Amino acid sequence: MPVFFQQQINETTRLGVWKIEETEEFFKGNVPVHRDVTHPHKRLQHLAGRFLLQFLFPDFPYELIQVADTRKPFLKDEQYHFSISHCGDYAAAIVSKDKRVGIDVELVTEKISRIKDKYLHEDEQVLFGITETAPDLQLLTVLWSAKESVFKWYGNGNVDFKKHIQLFNARKEKQTIDCFFSKTESELVIHYRLFEELVLAWGIS
Ligand SMILES: CC(C)(COP(=O)(O)OP(=O)(O)OC[C@H]1O[C@@H](n2cnc3c(N)ncnc32)[C@H](O)[C@@H]1OP(=O)(O)O)[C@@H](O)C(=O)NCCC(=O)NCCS
Repeated sequence: MPVFFQQQINETTRLGVWKIEETEEFFKGNVPVHRDVTHPHKRLQHLAGRFLLQFLFPDFPYELIQVADTRKPFLKDEQYHFSISHCGDYAAAIVSKDKRVGIDVELVTEKISRIKDKYLHEDEQVLFGITETAPDLQLLTVLWSAKESVFKWYGNGNVDFKKHIQLFNARKEKQTIDCFFSKTESELVIHYRLFEELVLAWGIS
């Protein structure tokens, strides 16, 4: 089943996660490649991410996609705002007619605990109860993914995750985390979903 998760967020914004089970040929007829991707699996991820854009909004104009120096893909006339992420055999995209968006998808792995001090401030580690001895890998991945989605939402690069993105107020029942992004002095609500091996996070504003 290729569509792993789908959500109509509101009238103008849609999100989808694709489990990649297809070969390159499936995507190639329908989707243009927007950058030189030599590694075959990365090329497949890239194609699946692009494929989702028209899957979510069939009139999405692939031919108008440009790629900024920061590597963020965008449409100049902002007919749609969009964000793409891929990890392992998954690709995710969020597309909106009127809001800036950022999305991230991550597989939960042990690696995340080794870099926690790079992306989480001490205050955040205390707030979210991160321990040295038995770190909660899923929680650490949610926090990382939340910050990546803010990075994508912003799109201009040069973001210090620890300094510029402050997470607080996680609401488990709603699956949201509040965020303050100091570069634009914005408050954002990051939404997340947990799957067996996967974490998905997105922000809209
Ligand atoms: C650049 C970055 C988006 C690349 O991510 P990645 O590991 O390849 O992850 P993803 O698969 O989630 O995202 C890739 C997609 O993001 C999009 N993207 C790339 N650069 C982007 C940017 N600056 N802004 C928004 N979106 C961007 C593209 O759509 C890309 O896919 P595509 O080229 O196939 O279209 C991101 O991981 C990054 O650099 N993060 C910052 C890391 C950092 O600064 N860490 C410091 C704290 S430790």
